[in-house]
Amino acid sequence: MTFMTSEVDRCTEAAFALVAPGKGILAADESHPTIAKRFKSIGVEATEEKRCAYREMLFTTEGIEEQISGVILFDETLRQSTATGEPFPSLLVSRGILPGIKVDKGAKPLAGSPGEVVTEGLDGLAQRLEEYSSLGARFTKWRAVIRIGDGLPTDYCINANAHALARYAALSIQAGLVPIVEPEVLIDGEHTIKKCSQVTERTLRRVFSELYHQGVSLQQILLKPNMVTSGTMCPERASEEEVASETIRCFLRAVPAAVPGVVFLSGGQSEEEATRHLNLMNRNRDVPWQLSFSFGRALQASTLSAWAGAEENRADAQAVFAERARVNGLARYGRYDWQNPGADAED
Ligand code: 13P
Repeated sequence: MTFMTSEVDRCTEAAFALVAPGKGILAADESHPTIAKRFKSIGVEATEEKRCAYREMLFTTEGIEEQISGVILFDETLRQSTATGEPFPSLLVSRGILPGIKVDKGAKPLAGSPGEVVTEGLDGLAQRLEEYSSLGARFTKWRAVIRIGDGLPTDYCINANAHALARYAALSIQAGLVPIVEPEVLIDGEHTIKKCSQVTERTLRRVFSELYHQGVSLQQILLKPNMVTSGTMCPERASEEEVASETIRCFLRAVPAAVPGVVFLSGGQSEEEATRHLNLMNRNRDVPWQLSFSFGRALQASTLSAWAGAEENRADAQAVFAERARVNGLARYGRYDWQNPGADAED
């Protein structure tokens, strides 16, 4: 596949900026049903105004540009503005933060394979990408979902999702937007860490094979994977050190060195777990990629509770959010000292 040089350069530049040292991505691209679920947990009805107020609170938090390189937005949010009328994309850009956009249309049942899903959204994607670019987006995200279970995942499911991820990535680069390729092996289930490692490796190998076959240049993408962990209902719990070392071992086997960065999702881990795992991984610097974050829940869970839908809680919620950003920034250097959270541990 041939891309215009300027588009490739634009992607490379943004991909490296997104994984700049000490920085990572805020995933604030919850779809309407997902944000409704999050708001329900704090007793708030998910109206358009509330979604806008919540995201404005996040995006205007002082100092986050020191640790947040980019924010993934949902279609609605890319078109919304602050209370004073500044569009969110230009607000973010003015703070040195790159705006991104979730472009998939969600995971739908995979025909003929009960319990499995495939992500949709390729139809009309080229036109949507053009519009998103004109609205200020610099990068995109597409999430594929792989479930571990009895006889799952099937090769059929992995292949269908990998194929769609690669088609999306090629279209995104063509539009000058860095694709964040997200194959998420779900944490839900009774599986051991070993099983998670096998399925994650199998999935990543397939995804990189499709990216290769569809001519996607790996310097222009970021990978957003799950960490390698025990399933939530597995009685044998892997330690934090095992999660960090198994994740790195798995990725060294399956992720080409040309990829600028691996930006982990948190996928149902607690805020602390996700940060500590990232921190431990970054103590091992002997890897070819930046190891960073693109957290949704692990950056927002305590902030959402502190906000609780009330304007008067805004400053408190912002303080909580700034602290989560700060500790994840430290984890990018392997310097988060969780036993002494105020200290910036040196190597
Ligand atoms: P979590 O960190 O909550 O898994 O969200 C990241 C994300 O963007 C999922 O697509």
